[in-house]
Amino acid sequence: MTQRLVELKEITKSFGNVNALTRVTMHVNKAEIVGLIGDNGAGKSTLIKILSGVHSPDSGEIWVRGKKVEGRWTVEKAHSAGIETVHQDRALAVQHTIQRNIFMGREITGFLGFIRVKKQNEEAERLMREIGFTSKVFTPESVVATLSGGERQGVAIARALYFEAELLVLDEPTTALSLTETQKVYSFMLAAKEKGSSVLFISHNIYHAYDIADRFVILDRGTVAMTADKSEIESAERLVQHMKDFARASHHPEGKS
Ligand SMILES: Nc1ncnc2c1ncn2[C@@H]1O[C@H](COP(=O)(O)OP(=O)(O)OP(=O)(O)O)[C@@H](O)[C@H]1O
Ligand SMILES: [Mg+2]
Repeated sequence: MTQRLVELKEITKSFGNVNALTRVTMHVNKAEIVGLIGDNGAGKSTLIKILSGVHSPDSGEIWVRGKKVEGRWTVEKAHSAGIETVHQDRALAVQHTIQRNIFMGREITGFLGFIRVKKQNEEAERLMREIGFTSKVFTPESVVATLSGGERQGVAIARALYFEAELLVLDEPTTALSLTETQKVYSFMLAAKEKGSSVLFISHNIYHAYDIADRFVILDRGTVAMTADKSEIESAERLVQHMKDFARASHHPEGKS
């Protein structure tokens, strides 16, 4: 039987009079890649902020490895549960090196609390190789500002993997990336899955998402409009058609056309 890593049950969240999420139920299994898709403002970022402990839901339950979370779910608790999130609105410190970005805020320190730069460099080097940084141009001491968008996502993913993410949550990792760069990010994600981690990622581009996800969750105006295994959807076009149908339904709430 497939094992559930995390599960959100009946999650509702409002900001003032905006109902960002209404009774959303979804889950992520172990070692699977789930694509969370939906239009602007559908509630995707809000949902993953709840999962990662940034926002508290107004109601609903969070379950981790089959156990219901009791009390307030926080960023710290999410981290210790192995949930690492790369948020849409929180970029890397681009003026710093790859190595520094990977360890920022959680440095490897030694005697007297000094940062062990050599050790961090070695670990960064190993991680970069593991997730498939193929370019020989970059070393752990390269400044992030010199990397392409896809490679920057790679650094964020390497950071998450170093901290033993069992669930890697990526908010729009490929937005504004070229196709080649997007492929690069996908290969980083596949490397994470290969290591036994799960990935929940948000994408606007269904054609891209279709290639890599094992399962899809479509959010529409704060509710789950559809979830499907990839095997149930014959093509990316089909998925796009579903999305269009939901969008059309939203313009004609009474079903008139
Ligand atoms: N902190 C906040 N305060 C007030 N309203 C918010 C806040 N965060 C989100 N919202 C509102 O909640 C709704 C869902 O927003 P959310 O950012 O989750 O959507 P999204 O699916 O991630 O969209 P996008 O594709 O544009 O990133 C929107 O109407 C948004 O304006
Ligand atoms: Mg968003």
